[in-house]
Amino acid sequence: MTGAATDEAGALGLRFWYDTFEGVRELFAEGHGSEGGPDDPLPSKTYRGLPRHVLAAPPRRIGDARWSFPGFRDRHPEGPPRRPWDGSTLSALLHHTYGLGRMELGPQAAWPYHRVVASARCFYPVELYVWLGGDTGGVPAGCYHYDPLHHALTALRPGGIPEELRAAVACKGRDTTALLLLSAYFRKTAFRYRDYAYRLCAQESGMVVGNALLVAGALGLDARVHHRFLDEPVNRALGLDGTEETTFAVLEIGALDEVAASPAPGRLPPSVPDRLPPLVTEHVRTCREDAALWSRLTTLDAGSRLTGEARFAPVAADPFHQPADGPAEFFADDDRPPGSVELGDALRRRDSGGRMFLPDRAALPQQQLADLLRYALDPVPSDHGDTPLRPLLDCHVLALNTAGQAAGLYRLDPSPALVPVPGRDGRPTVAMLCDRTPSVNTARANAVVFLTVDRYEGARGFGDRGYRVLHHEGGIVAQRLSVLAAAEGLSARITNGYDDRVVRELLGGGDAHVPIFAIVLGRRQATSQYEPPLDW
Ligand SMILES: Cc1cc2nc3c(=O)[nH]c(=O)nc-3n(C[C@H](O)[C@H](O)[C@H](O)COP(=O)(O)O)c2cc1C
Repeated sequence: MTGAATDEAGALGLRFWYDTFEGVRELFAEGHGSEGGPDDPLPSKTYRGLPRHVLAAPPRRIGDARWSFPGFRDRHPEGPPRRPWDGSTLSALLHHTYGLGRMELGPQAAWPYHRVVASARCFYPVELYVWLGGDTGGVPAGCYHYDPLHHALTALRPGGIPEELRAAVACKGRDTTALLLLSAYFRKTAFRYRDYAYRLCAQESGMVVGNALLVAGALGLDARVHHRFLDEPVNRALGLDGTEETTFAVLEIGALDEVAASPAPGRLPPSVPDRLPPLVTEHVRTCREDAALWSRLTTLDAGSRLTGEARFAPVAADPFHQPADGPAEFFADDDRPPGSVELGDALRRRDSGGRMFLPDRAALPQQQLADLLRYALDPVPSDHGDTPLRPLLDCHVLALNTAGQAAGLYRLDPSPALVPVPGRDGRPTVAMLCDRTPSVNTARANAVVFLTVDRYEGARGFGDRGYRVLHHEGGIVAQRLSVLAAAEGLSARITNGYDDRVVRELLGGGDAHVPIFAIVLGRRQATSQYEPPLDW
């Protein structure tokens, strides 16, 4: 790619956009798998016969939730307290990025395990790997899989980050402390959702990326996201076959100074030497469904691969956004001092409102709405360019039950401000959401947030990989909103149960702009659902 995808390259992705949005009902009508039997996939990949390192209990408090946001750092140039890179920091990074947060108990608990990041039906198709550059608190340098249920690492390969992996990812930091590698293990979601699972996997890997950025920031670590890398050598390094499970995103973890001072991101190398021996592992497989049942998913993913032929230019953010207009209602400055929004607390509190989400009737004060929205569109450090870039999406807020903020539709401006969008009637959208997501009473919500992306711009910039990359962008913002909502005592329910045509009609923007996330915000009422938090 030269920054402009060929028509042919983007066509597969665009077809998938159509199938999973305009055509989603027909896609679902093709059938889906059954759930709840003994052959369901395990919620976390479980290797057999490999050494394990049980990690130390993670600290409950890890730092302020806002340190990863340039808007917050600019106001507090002293930055977060630096921690040593040791076993405690590693334990905190992994647990708070993608660990087990709480369990639901009792006979109704069909999905008992809840992680700090939401997942459709708690399938958790994203697996987390870490490659340690050096020995870390008793864990030797090497490649590991993170087991959230036991807060342990399974050792896959010994040794520091290999040069061929750094080359395949086009790492920027000279002295990367660790790499976090996120995969999509398609079967874990596809056994139920078939081809549609690709959308969920891409949304959720974006959310885990977003959470890793939040956690790294709080811990005083710098992180940079890679959406584009040579897939084959990265999968080979992790021992993934690329079809059942493939790498979706990589995060470089290291000190900011090193990352900032390093040269501009190069193009991906034409090829990387194949020095790592093949990694042959065994893990528990309970699900024997034929992967041919989700062949469109694997075809799209194969079409999204980057090889040594790939070339990409830095991304320009402007074409991805709809033009701003109207008078902005600027947010008052955030005068909450560093340390007052504890990320560990927010992550423990984060939830989706329960199985049947019935928000209470209390209006959401304007200040709380501003505080949960204000950093959502802050720039993200990624391989889109040399400097952090505003997420490649637009964000609208349908205010329903807020105090001090008139009900109606707003566009979130990164300044940060809300820009009223006059003359739009949100009622058909609320009615549609109540109908399509009956597990949530959206009519009682405080607000609904919609994230939209320009699919044609995505195809131009990233080819078929645009589908995945734009869902990652959405996931990063969705996770920021979910966690900052939790900090305000609100639940954030992501739902894919909506008619994109009705949402488009509300938001405007035409055929190019697809709503990829709908997030219902409200304060959860107490129910008989029993979910004790997990204490360390
Ligand atoms: C990508 C994604 C799509 C989801 N889609 C729906 C949906 O269509 N309907 C719904 O009721 N919940 C949906 N959810 C909510 C999940 O079922 C919920 O996050 C999960 O049960 C875990 O609960 P927790 O977030 O409280 O831990 C979705 C969540 C995610 C991350």
